[in-house]
Amino acid sequence: REAGRFSGELVAAPVHKGLAEHGKPTEVWAYNGSLPGPLIEAYEGDTVEIAFTNRLPQPTTVHWHGLPVPADQDGNPAYPVLPGETRHYRFSLPSGSAGSYWYHPHPHGHTAEQVFRGLAGVFVVKSRRDPLAHLRDIPLVLSDLRLDADAAIPANTKADWMDGREGDYVLVNGALKPVLALGENERVRLRVYNATSARVLRLALPGFEVWRVGSDGGLIEAPRREAEVLLSPGERAELVITGAAKAGRLIALPYQRGKMMSAEVGETLVLATVAPGPRVASVPLPKRLRRIAALPAPKVKRRVVLEENMADPKAMFTINGKTFDMNRADFVGRVGEVEEWEVINRADMDHPFHLHGTQFQVAARHDGRGWKTEPYRAWRDVVSLPAGQAVKLRFRQDQPGMRMFHCHILEHEDQGMMGQIDVR
Ligand code: C2O
Ligand code: CU
Ligand code: CU
Repeated sequence: REAGRFSGELVAAPVHKGLAEHGKPTEVWAYNGSLPGPLIEAYEGDTVEIAFTNRLPQPTTVHWHGLPVPADQDGNPAYPVLPGETRHYRFSLPSGSAGSYWYHPHPHGHTAEQVFRGLAGVFVVKSRRDPLAHLRDIPLVLSDLRLDADAAIPANTKADWMDGREGDYVLVNGALKPVLALGENERVRLRVYNATSARVLRLALPGFEVWRVGSDGGLIEAPRREAEVLLSPGERAELVITGAAKAGRLIALPYQRGKMMSAEVGETLVLATVAPGPRVASVPLPKRLRRIAALPAPKVKRRVVLEENMADPKAMFTINGKTFDMNRADFVGRVGEVEEWEVINRADMDHPFHLHGTQFQVAARHDGRGWKTEPYRAWRDVVSLPAGQAVKLRFRQDQPGMRMFHCHILEHEDQGMMGQIDVR
């Protein structure tokens, strides 16, 4: 690895693996044969070159979720990589971009399937001035797995297409209920990824101190002690954990996301065991992690309304009354101009909202009773959006091109709950 340059190779292909409690091997689709895909770690300022080869039986792309890459390098559905083809993705990582990103397929109509068959990987951008660089850095990719009686991964059912697919198992870095062993009095930095299609993860680690130190787009301003961390599909959190006398469990608590096809909220799931080393004394975290300036008043304001329309099976999930059309720009924006989007969920279930190409700040949230400002400032690219609620997002796009925005329940995205802004 040369300074200033990251280059690598990714190959998406079917492979067989023994998963979960089944004895039989399962065909999964993986990057470089590993579940999740290989960890990509680069530094702010690096130029990244990735040669990607598609050995799947269908077209795919690689989308660099959350990264400010040029629009034609971002794995948009408009640039499919056909079976057997290789394409070179090239981009550079601007200063200030340190954060927890990921990569996953984004082909038109097949994103959900390719992700639930296993295609997803972590892309960490590091800063050379990282106040938490001394901590062991552990990405935890949470993904859903469903297996049929033959240990094969079945296609989506009609209910999956409506509600978004949830599996029978939630895997952590491709494994079922792994043990995370910590050293003596060790604090670790976890980068937790919700790489499921549709599951909202209400995470807790009873018995441990859990400090939130970052969101999708890097560190927040100051550590925050949290009892629970809510992660919508696509969303990430950086957490520092410490201070337990005995082993504990990372769990996902029940969450009501308003599914149409079932009223159940699920039971508490055990995701992993965390085994602490002996505790000597608690090491303090820095009080300040970084400064995040509020984005200035917007030049442009837009409304983005998410709806469900069960009467039309061809357009069940819409944004501003429409489904995705690759050849239509829903909005035209300007490079460098601050925009404020009021994103309103008029539907009956949660629809986590995601925007490509940049990070946004949540300026306010309407919980159904009134507007409230967020308790802390953060850079995000996915925001949870429960039924009946709304958010005001502020952002700037610093590069021209088509940028998608969509619900990150991947089955909804595939059915066209997606639009695009043409930034000029
Ligand atoms: Cu993570 Cu457009 O997606
Ligand atoms: Cu994305
Ligand atoms: Cu949705």
